[in-house]
Order: sequence, then structure tokens, then C-alpha cells
Amino acid sequence: MKRLTTIVALSITIILCACAGNKEQQGSAQQNNSEKMEKKTTLVAYFSATGTTKAAAEKLAELVNADIHEIQPKQPYTDADLDWHNQQSRSSVEMKDKSSRPAIKNKVENMDQYNTVYIGYPIWWYIAPTIINTFVEQYNLEGKTVIPFFTSGGSEAGETMKYLTPSAPNANWKDPINLTGKSKEEIKKLVK
Ligand SMILES: Cc1cc2nc3c(=O)[nH]c(=O)nc-3n(C[C@H](O)[C@H](O)[C@H](O)COP(=O)(O)O)c2cc1C
Repeated sequence: MKRLTTIVALSITIILCACAGNKEQQGSAQQNNSEKMEKKTTLVAYFSATGTTKAAAEKLAELVNADIHEIQPKQPYTDADLDWHNQQSRSSVEMKDKSSRPAIKNKVENMDQYNTVYIGYPIWWYIAPTIINTFVEQYNLEGKTVIPFFTSGGSEAGETMKYLTPSAPNANWKDPINLTGKSKEEIKKLVK
């Protein structure tokens, strides 16, 4: 009798353990599914030398439910580098040479995941900094919707597109959006 009781108790324990294991598996499968569902299809990538475009990019990313990526120069820009009064400063020299391609430190590992890519930058000498060309040329943007946005000291997009689009001729480029001084509400209207 005692032996029978032991066998029954053991069997119940085994059944309970198996059920618990199953539940754990179901739980982790559900988690994996929801992680997959949360994969975003929009990316906001931006370069910002002094923080203005960064602030705009953060508002934008939240509004369009996008992942955000900061384009980081391999060699950060110092105040002296950004001095546009100085013809010899790094930014002046780079912007005079339209074929310059300043190196980037980091990469978007999963660009394939995105079908819409916003690309943000400050206007430098009436166009996008050439580091944006470096960024665009690093990826295959064919078929992706690419929407430039910028901040500036007052200039509009100027000839931005003339110099940007050849870096990804097969992307579906949209007109640049000026986010200078825009509130979240204003950005919401602009990206609709
Ligand atoms: C090298 C350099 C060139 C610039 N050229 C222009 C320009 O042509 N037109 C303009 O309106 N602002 C110009 N600006 C001002 C920036 O576009 C503006 O301050 C921008 O919001 C800075 O963004 P950030 O803080 O994200 O770098 C220039 C700034 C720098 C550093």
C-alpha cells in the first residue's frame, strides 16, 4: 500500500512539473511574439553638432513611433571645427569639397528592418553636411521612403536635395522638412 501511495505521489509530481514547463514555454513564446510585433519599421537617424537637430529628432521619433539613431562622427566636431567665419576650419574645408566624406563611428545594424527613414541634420552652408552623404552611401536605401529634415539659423533647404539624392538614387526621396524651432504639435502637423 505504502509503495502504491509513493508511486501515485511521484506520478502527480511528474505531471505537475510537465504542465509548469509547458506554461513557461508558452510564456516565452508569447514574449518572443510581442517582441517581433514591436519591431519598428520607421527609423529617425540624425546628425547634430550642437544639439538642436537632436532635440527635433527626439520629438519626431516619438511622434512617428520610430527607432532613433544618432550619426556619430569618428572625429567629433569641436567649436573651432564649426567656426564658419574661418575659411580654414574643418567644416569650411569639408563643405567646400562636395566629395568630402567625413568618417562615421557607428552603424545602423538592421537597416533592412525599416521601410521609412527620416534623416536629420543642421544646414551647413545652405545644404546638408557631407557626413550625411557618408551615412546615405553606407546603406542600400533602394525602395525605402527617405524623408530629410533639418534645423538651421534661418535658411531653408536650399540645394540640399541636389547634393543628397545622388548618394542614394534609388531611394524614394521626399521633400525636406524644416523643424527649426518647431513644437511637438507643429511637428505632428508637418509629418501628417
Ligand atoms: C559650419 C556651419 C554652417 C552653417 N551654415 C548655415 C547656413 O548656411 N544657413 C543657416 O541658416 N544656418 C547655418 N548654420 C547654423 C545651423 O544650421 C543651426 O544652428 C542648426 O540648428 C544647428 O544644429 P545642431 O545643433 O543640430 O548642430 C551653420 C552652422 C555651422 C556650424
